[in-house]
Amino acid sequence: MEPAKEEESSVQDEAVDKSNFKNCNHIAFYRRQKLLLPGKSLYQALLDSVTLCNDSVKLQIINEKNKVPLLVEIYAIDGNIFRLKINEVSPLKSRYEVPDVLIKEPTTQRLSIAQKEAGILVLTCANEDCKIHITANPFQIELESKGETVLSVNTNGLLYFEHLQPPPQNSKTTAQKKEDASIDSSQENQEDLGLWQEEFGSFLDIKANGPSSIGLDFSLHGCEHVYGIPEHAETLLLKNTSDDDAYRLFNLDVYGHKIHDKMGIYGSVPFLLAHKPNRTSGIFWLNSSETLVEINTKAVMEHVPSRSPPDITKQRVVPQTDVRWMSESGIIDVFLLMGPTPFDIFKQYAQLTGTQALPPLFSLGYHQCRWNYEDEQDVKTVDTAFDEHDIPYDVIWLDIEHTEGKRYFTWDKKKFQHPKRMQELLKRKKRKLVVIIDPHIKVDPMYALYSQAKKKGYFVKNRKGQDFEGICWPGSSSYLDFTNPEVREWYADQFAFKSYKGSTDILFVWNDMNEPSVFKGAELTMQRDAVHHGNWEHREVHNLYGFYQQMVTAEGLIKRSGGQKRPFVLTRSFFAGSQKYGAVWTGDNVAEWSYLKISIPMLLTISIAGISFCGADVGGFIGDPEPELLVRWYQAGAYQPFFRGHANIESKRREPWLFGDENTQIIREAIRERYTLLPYLYSLFYRAHTTAEPVMRPLWVEFPKEQETFGVEDEYMLGNALLVHPVIEQEATTVNVLLPGSDEVWYDFRRFRRLDYPGTLKIPVTLESIPVFQRGGSVVPLKTTVGRSTEWMTDISYELRVALDSKDFAVGELYLDDGHSFQYLHKKQFLHRKFTFHKNVFSSSCADEIGQYHTKCVVERVLILGVQKQPTSVTVSLQDKRDGKDKEVVFTYDAKTSMLTLEKLLLNVGADWEIHIK
Ligand code: NOJ
Repeated sequence: MEPAKEEESSVQDEAVDKSNFKNCNHIAFYRRQKLLLPGKSLYQALLDSVTLCNDSVKLQIINEKNKVPLLVEIYAIDGNIFRLKINEVSPLKSRYEVPDVLIKEPTTQRLSIAQKEAGILVLTCANEDCKIHITANPFQIELESKGETVLSVNTNGLLYFEHLQPPPQNSKTTAQKKEDASIDSSQENQEDLGLWQEEFGSFLDIKANGPSSIGLDFSLHGCEHVYGIPEHAETLLLKNTSDDDAYRLFNLDVYGHKIHDKMGIYGSVPFLLAHKPNRTSGIFWLNSSETLVEINTKAVMEHVPSRSPPDITKQRVVPQTDVRWMSESGIIDVFLLMGPTPFDIFKQYAQLTGTQALPPLFSLGYHQCRWNYEDEQDVKTVDTAFDEHDIPYDVIWLDIEHTEGKRYFTWDKKKFQHPKRMQELLKRKKRKLVVIIDPHIKVDPMYALYSQAKKKGYFVKNRKGQDFEGICWPGSSSYLDFTNPEVREWYADQFAFKSYKGSTDILFVWNDMNEPSVFKGAELTMQRDAVHHGNWEHREVHNLYGFYQQMVTAEGLIKRSGGQKRPFVLTRSFFAGSQKYGAVWTGDNVAEWSYLKISIPMLLTISIAGISFCGADVGGFIGDPEPELLVRWYQAGAYQPFFRGHANIESKRREPWLFGDENTQIIREAIRERYTLLPYLYSLFYRAHTTAEPVMRPLWVEFPKEQETFGVEDEYMLGNALLVHPVIEQEATTVNVLLPGSDEVWYDFRRFRRLDYPGTLKIPVTLESIPVFQRGGSVVPLKTTVGRSTEWMTDISYELRVALDSKDFAVGELYLDDGHSFQYLHKKQFLHRKFTFHKNVFSSSCADEIGQYHTKCVVERVLILGVQKQPTSVTVSLQDKRDGKDKEVVFTYDAKTSMLTLEKLLLNVGADWEIHIK
């Protein structure tokens, strides 16, 4: 089986041109929905049809033109969430409902009918202070919480539902097609409505089920700041859209994607957050077909609940944001999250889709990647060079060239003759290997994976029922149908050590090209009329494809370890819920300053949509970064959740030591800083895992009442303690940093200086500077030094960085476990510690009694920032005092920075103790 070089493909000549991709007006369902203008809805609720069930209220609505009835189901879900489902009462065949994304069937509360008269239905739910007002004609819903209307549904009358119809007799007659359309034919002009087929360039999409698009509008009252719906190379704050410029959610392989563009790129999370000072709310549109989102913020007269007549004298002008969702197919299944705080929203969303998987500790270290490390010798040389340059790193990556002709799960026989030996070497160095595994499978009967999958019928089919074939890296390829549970089971088994020859337990996985990317396909992806398991067309599941690949890869890695070890899987394509399976990155960015800049809002948006473990290629994938840009990118990446340097096959080598001593030194410092920060970062991931708090968060999340934070996207919070403002301008000598909160105290994280006046400060920077600030009132756990990789650092002692607030108080925490297994879950083997500074006593106590974990590791140093005067004595007492005496502590006080340093403490990190400062 020789690699068939001449057949292989390259992305450079296939995927750069934006004309390869649709804009909104190319999309037939968008054009059709746009024929429905805002105004009075065509739908009326039939209040006689209302039925109160244990878990929901059901009623029918009817379209006054086509008379097709729809079934509306309203659910009140525990934790201040509402769900609205709309489907046909009796569809011609079932419509697709997204499986596998909700972690369980949500627990509902019983609704009661509080009023049903004069065309109004009012529902109340048991526990929450919420009401649902349904108006019959036109059909509208308002959600009210504590007397405030939070959001309303179908206010602009844009509820749109194309019911399934039998194919017209002669599907080629335009007149016939138009007769069958469910929209007002008087509004039609001669344009093609793409009902049964749709063209794009030379591509024809044949729609077996005809038109099946759905849409609905929502009004968010009092809101002018909306966020979320990744993935776009766009600002953090969502912009108002204009015609033909909606945010597109459609997973696509867009090499060197344009910046400030609403086109769909690799991943989609149909979750939008709205924020105003007293409330955050959310809309989760559970649909995996192509989706477009229009946003329109405007000033309106304050909304008064529909039943009470407005008192005009008291009405104010307030902002309102209208959001219109449109999807190609499926049903309307939408979750309305009522907050009210940003953290409530994160919890509510996680209650539906799950929390971030707890990453193995190594994966929070630095990752060294390029397309490609050439061979085993190259890997060895790069690995050794990290040690020679005293730069820590945890993982080296192998891109597609490591395989035999892009046949995944194999090794190039010449370049990687002894993959096990190579991994053993890395293992001895306490490091890991990540290899790429894409979803396309080379069409080659001699390739076992292909022939098995072919025989078992595991590939996605074309509309004629044959295996779908498209071009990707290996040339002609078929695509595994991960939507099929049987395929997933089989695929997970491919990661077993006995199946995946040459793999060992330090090998982890990178899923790329899983939008899926199909080089010669329409928009470089799979045809929508391809057919998946259960006879569902690809259009229904498109945005889920990568989600499933990452899911099954993670399952495979867990399985190969007998359920013992946490997996690490990086995916390019993602959907709502992908956080459960690992990390994502932002794909093929460019080595330019603008891409470094946009990476911050992109990562923030992904983070608040539930996926905390995210990063952008450090250095920029395409092209060659100038040294200054590379340095700045390392500094930014060191303070972002997933930290990987990566470069294109055509880019020059750019390992950290190739840019002269001075730059090597600065990059070394940035990476080392990352490693000292790991206890804090790991603790943040534990929080993301257990309580759904994003690791990297926009300022407004921490300062929800401070309006000036709402649009900030050049800085962010890492947890609640650190404010990071990466330098993203070339030759910067200063940066303007907003330190929010009028009562807050901030400290320079490295120089310890207290910054007394919050507001926007001009901070001088040199090439060495990473502007990071610690918030008064926090405790940040750090390591006192670094090792060659995370595994070398287990026993390294801790430093606790205590930053006092204006009341001389501070609190923080540390989470600790073995860093790699599931014992923290199954055997409760972990430590969760709480550190409190209060009334001049700094104490360590247990934050979670359930966890037990033995460690010899100690807290060696405590730095307390903001201590007003020099103490006369500092003593420590152990709660478990055997000798009964308090011990004196060695301390120094720096009056200039008001910093108290306590050293040589040797306090076990798992023990309870108190430090008294007098
Ligand atoms: C595209 C990915 O985005 C990139 O990171 C990777 O190096 C290439 N595919 C080759 O596998």
